[in-house]
Amino acid sequence: MSEVETAAIEDAKQVTPDAIMQLGTAFWASKALLSAVELGVFSELADAGALDADALRERLGLHTRSATDFFDALVALGMLERTDGRYANTPETDLFLDRAKPSYVGGMLEMANARLYEFWGSLTEGLQTGVPQNEAKSGGDFFEALYADPERLAQFARAMSAISGGTAQAIAAKFPWREHGSVIDIGCAEGAVPVQIALAHEHITGGGFDLPQIEPIFDAYVARFGLEKRLSFSAGDFFADPLPEADVLVMGHILHDWGMDEKRVLLQKAHDALPDGGALIVYEAIIDDERRNNVFGLLMSLNMLIETPAGFDYTGADCRGWMQETGFRESYVEHLVGPDSMVVGIK
Ligand SMILES: C[S@@+](CC[C@H](N)C(=O)[O-])C[C@H]1O[C@@H](n2cnc3c(N)ncnc32)[C@H](O)[C@@H]1O
Repeated sequence: MSEVETAAIEDAKQVTPDAIMQLGTAFWASKALLSAVELGVFSELADAGALDADALRERLGLHTRSATDFFDALVALGMLERTDGRYANTPETDLFLDRAKPSYVGGMLEMANARLYEFWGSLTEGLQTGVPQNEAKSGGDFFEALYADPERLAQFARAMSAISGGTAQAIAAKFPWREHGSVIDIGCAEGAVPVQIALAHEHITGGGFDLPQIEPIFDAYVARFGLEKRLSFSAGDFFADPLPEADVLVMGHILHDWGMDEKRVLLQKAHDALPDGGALIVYEAIIDDERRNNVFGLLMSLNMLIETPAGFDYTGADCRGWMQETGFRESYVEHLVGPDSMVVGIK
């Protein structure tokens, strides 16, 4: 056998379908976690401490058939620990998935479980038609229902803070706030970003701009941090109204909701509202310029297909190009945390 043939056989031995099969069935693992959050597994264990399978099953109201498989699968997935037959949270699930703790990030997972899991089931149809696959498909309107129900709206805003919390701290740490005096977060939801900036920089004032229904939610959140003297809410519609003026404007998870025309309108409005030398910070799961590494950003763009009529995520180079066309004199991209980066445009 030639050397080339031997090398080819060795290569073939190393090529396995493992990664393909793991990815193809990854939704099993994902749904096991989402059901655990829905059932309150982590909150029960945080409350009770370690429990054996029967006690945990009874507290959760589960059938005997698969409860132990469910708990052990969560152990194998690294979401629970098991010692001497008793189950307990890991440090991460205890901190982030116990509903009783302020560090709870399950709001986003609850929404993924209640809505996105089902809607992603018709991704193929979305790809074939280009049409959203959420409530809009059956004549419903997610945002109409959301804004009509204060409790659902508050839950949505909490989910946004859960997504943006770590990123908000990174923006507070990485942007040169000493050079600026005021900030307004456009489409602020609860206001996690201005709150983190104000906590870290005592000289900063400003607040958030969002639809009027958000006002009590923003006010309550800001009051929890004792920042109501420095941060206030401006109600408005970012398509119908001019944007409020500030040294720095922030847009987080806003541009990706919209098609190209609306993206340009929003960038132009931000430019109009800024002073010379002012900055626009756009942050979300900015896709890497090669469009091959930021898996979360690329899948988020598909999530925009599921959720919106024309939204899509984009690379840092895309955003910098649009900023330049809008008239921003400089721009740069800086990584924040996890999949998130900010694109900063200077007027
Ligand atoms: C995806 S959330 C992003 C929230 C927050 N910036 C973050 O990243 O955590 C979009 C926000 O835009 C707001 N919004 C949507 N349409 C708007 C409009 N026409 N005018 C002002 N705000 C709007 C929503 O109320 C919501 O708070």
